[in-house]
Amino acid sequence: MSAVKDSRIIDKINSLGFDIDRMPKHIAVIMDGNGRWAKKQGFFTRIKGHENGVTALRELTTSTAELGIEYLTVYAFSTENWNRPKTEVKALMNLLVGALKDELPVLQKNGIRLNAIGNLTTLPQKAFKELHEVMNATKNNNHLVLTLALSYSSKTEILHAAQKIAMDVKQGKLQPEEVDEGTFEKHLFTHNLPDPDLLIRTSGEFRISNFLLWQIAYAELHFSDTLWPDFTGKDLYAAIQDYQQRERRFGKTSEQLNK
Ligand code: IPE
Ligand code: IPE
Ligand code: MG
Repeated sequence: MSAVKDSRIIDKINSLGFDIDRMPKHIAVIMDGNGRWAKKQGFFTRIKGHENGVTALRELTTSTAELGIEYLTVYAFSTENWNRPKTEVKALMNLLVGALKDELPVLQKNGIRLNAIGNLTTLPQKAFKELHEVMNATKNNNHLVLTLALSYSSKTEILHAAQKIAMDVKQGKLQPEEVDEGTFEKHLFTHNLPDPDLLIRTSGEFRISNFLLWQIAYAELHFSDTLWPDFTGKDLYAAIQDYQQRERRFGKTSEQLNK
């Protein structure tokens, strides 16, 4: 990952009036409100919202890459979302396959590496295969890591980590007192990602819905009223502006930080 930002990125950051030294390195997004958007537009099916949600994700990815942000992680499908009507789940999975196929050239052109977290083996075979093809094809790209959370549950992720650690202890590979944050993080799906600095949730909902519970311990939270399909670069900039006004104290006092 290049720490040195190229001049186009610097110009973009400056033109938006952001402090270049305080850009988030990792942004996570709970993309919510597709169904309500479709209803508001007068569509008879929620699927139209999901289709337009894909367009919004493409725009977000481009805007994020333009700012030189290194990691973007988006909640695309939760474990709990499997409980939606069969037709909606099927449409979402088909949409995923289609989007993966269509977006590959865009990812390549912009140097974006695709990554995925979640219980991926529960995805339909076609989606699983396409996902791995795109991840493999983009594995050497190094401008932005786009992580899709698919069939994702943070509680399950934490439980799996606990089980793997318990197994290592049982086999004598690890002592219980050696289990620390580092050991734990190594067993999370996100082991190769830094923790998010900024978490955005759209559609006016104020909850986390089982997303990255461990990883957002010190993330700044930004809630936007915009329904996901309407989310544009402007909404992203508003979130970053909000983020830059926060004082991240990590438990210290303001005086300590400003010394
Ligand atoms: C987010 O939009 C997309 C997924 C959860 C897959 P929703 O489908 O949850 O839309 P609302 O929240 O019902 O409006
Ligand atoms: C969270 O949205 C999951 C995704 C955005 C993929 P939901 O719409 O499923 O969340 P709840 O049910 O409103 O909490
Ligand atoms: Mg929702």
